[in-house]
Amino acid sequence: MEKTSIESPIEIFEHSLEASKKIASRIAQLIIAKKEVGQMAVLGLATGSSPIEVYNELVRMHREEALSFQNVITFNLDEYFPMAPDREQSYHRFMNEYLFDHVDILPENIHIPDGTLTSVESVNKYCQAYEEKIDEVGGIDLQILGIGRTGHIGFNEPGSTLESITRLVTLDNKTRVDATKDFFGKHNVPKNAVTMGISTILKSKQVVLMAWGEGKAEIVERAINGHMSSQVPATFLQNHMNVTYYFDMPAASELAQVKTPWLLDSITWDALMVRKAVVWLCEILGKPILTLTNEDYNENGLSELLTKRDSAYKINIEVFNQLQHTITGWPGGKPNADDSQRPERNTPFPKRTLIFSPHPDDDVISMGGTLLRLVEQGHEVHVAYQVSGNIAVFDEYAYNYLDFMCDYNQMIDVKNEKLIALRDEVRDYMQSDQSGNKAPDALRELKGQLRKNEAKAACRYCGVDEKNLHFMNLPFYETGEVKKKPLGEEDIQLTMELLQEQQPHQVFLAGDLSDPHGTHRVCLEAIFEAMRRLKNEAWTDNCKVWMYRGAWQEWDIADIEMAVPISPEELMKKRQAIFRHQSQKDGVAFPGSDAREFWQRAEDRNRHTARQYDKLGMAQYEAMEAFVEWDFKNE
Ligand code: F6R
Repeated sequence: MEKTSIESPIEIFEHSLEASKKIASRIAQLIIAKKEVGQMAVLGLATGSSPIEVYNELVRMHREEALSFQNVITFNLDEYFPMAPDREQSYHRFMNEYLFDHVDILPENIHIPDGTLTSVESVNKYCQAYEEKIDEVGGIDLQILGIGRTGHIGFNEPGSTLESITRLVTLDNKTRVDATKDFFGKHNVPKNAVTMGISTILKSKQVVLMAWGEGKAEIVERAINGHMSSQVPATFLQNHMNVTYYFDMPAASELAQVKTPWLLDSITWDALMVRKAVVWLCEILGKPILTLTNEDYNENGLSELLTKRDSAYKINIEVFNQLQHTITGWPGGKPNADDSQRPERNTPFPKRTLIFSPHPDDDVISMGGTLLRLVEQGHEVHVAYQVSGNIAVFDEYAYNYLDFMCDYNQMIDVKNEKLIALRDEVRDYMQSDQSGNKAPDALRELKGQLRKNEAKAACRYCGVDEKNLHFMNLPFYETGEVKKKPLGEEDIQLTMELLQEQQPHQVFLAGDLSDPHGTHRVCLEAIFEAMRRLKNEAWTDNCKVWMYRGAWQEWDIADIEMAVPISPEELMKKRQAIFRHQSQKDGVAFPGSDAREFWQRAEDRNRHTARQYDKLGMAQYEAMEAFVEWDFKNE
């Protein structure tokens, strides 16, 4: 569903998948139109997590709709330097795995900057030739772009000028931190890259920039509304005659069009919009809700709302009550209590609650306090771990367990040749130059097992019955590599089976989209699709679905529909539950853009939510976990 289409060039979608399909269809139309007139379509391509769903869709169109790439020439934006094309992190390999290996493009029509050149002169010559090749084929017809947190497009980092062409560049520190997700540690991330320049990009006839997830919200706002400057290279696109921006709602959330639309135009004042406006007004004035005056509304662009509702007093009371009613210490509903103003129903009691946790620790990180309450209040709590999380365990950590098992066997006189052989194999692998080598399957399985046992330990600590744990090992994740497969039918079927079997009264799922590898996004899509297909089943009439966030980002206050207070003691218990995930402590393999450990992030975010409620004039709590309902019946 397309949510909003503000006069081109910005298109905002509820989900990235719909937006990606639209971009893919634009590319397909261009290829077909060019074919009809006997011409080549020249595409500028990007890598990274943003275009993956676009490529998946193009591959699908090739397979199912006979979309041919025979008349396509491609130029990729960039490549790390130095970088061998067969390395796991190489953009050559990325493009082959996600697109080129699956379509009928002619190999001679593919161009990706070379990361293997040795001298500065050869690089310079190569870059000049890259520019010339683009010109020779008549320039790029359509260039697709992601955006980095530094505002880079391609690898044009802050400082890149409008005139820049294809060249060797130094990567920004932030970019290298973000790239740790693919390189297992920042020290492995190359310091340089070869990238098309800003002027190369701007010469393209059409440009499409896409951004998904809350993590991009801030830079998206600066790219669209900021002054044009080399400090945010994406701002240079503001001058392009044919650029379209595609965002999902979370990535667009800082844009004035979404955040404060009342300042731009006359709008429809539904309850959510009124809440957003009031929370915003409180924030900019530093006042609690019930102290806002008519002047406050009038002087800050909210006179239209004031006229519609008559008085500040009425608006204040309306919003204050709404927010007040989101707070509940009974996340499974309070038995025998009036539930007309509570987020959850009082019956049935106890409830069967199914918590989906994408990785084995998302449950306790993002909703550990709520989970503890649900158990304590007598509900039948199930946890479904969607993926094994095996790539997030360091080799050395897993090896120590193997080594321990071997030594312990020896100590108690148990002969286990297989275990010893395995340990030796893993040690040899770790000592080898691992480029191009896939880790032994046994190592990956051991890592998955370690994470499974950590999840079991955390659940034991929280009082969840072990027989209520479901380790789904969704197949899309099990590639043995950082790169994952697209969501498949099998992933959806497994999710549907579990839901059908449990017929839960309550479902909790991860609604955050900013995890570095996009795993949460795929896990979310699996549940969305499963629930869509099951929504006519009778049990779903009695089922509510709640989305949590936490490890990466929190919900906006105005969006929150259930806020569960956490006492200081509960917060310490939650911390202890997170500590059960020992392989993820003291430095995780994939920290994303936040250097803090998960328990620290979770506590800070939970405390921050409570502080925001407090500032708005609600009761003061130590911390709060927040949820938004997904109305799957009326989507
Ligand atoms: C990739 C590229 C980069 C990425 C940007 C966003 O070829 O040039 O500009 O588009 O870093 O990366 P993701 O999509 O991984 O967030």
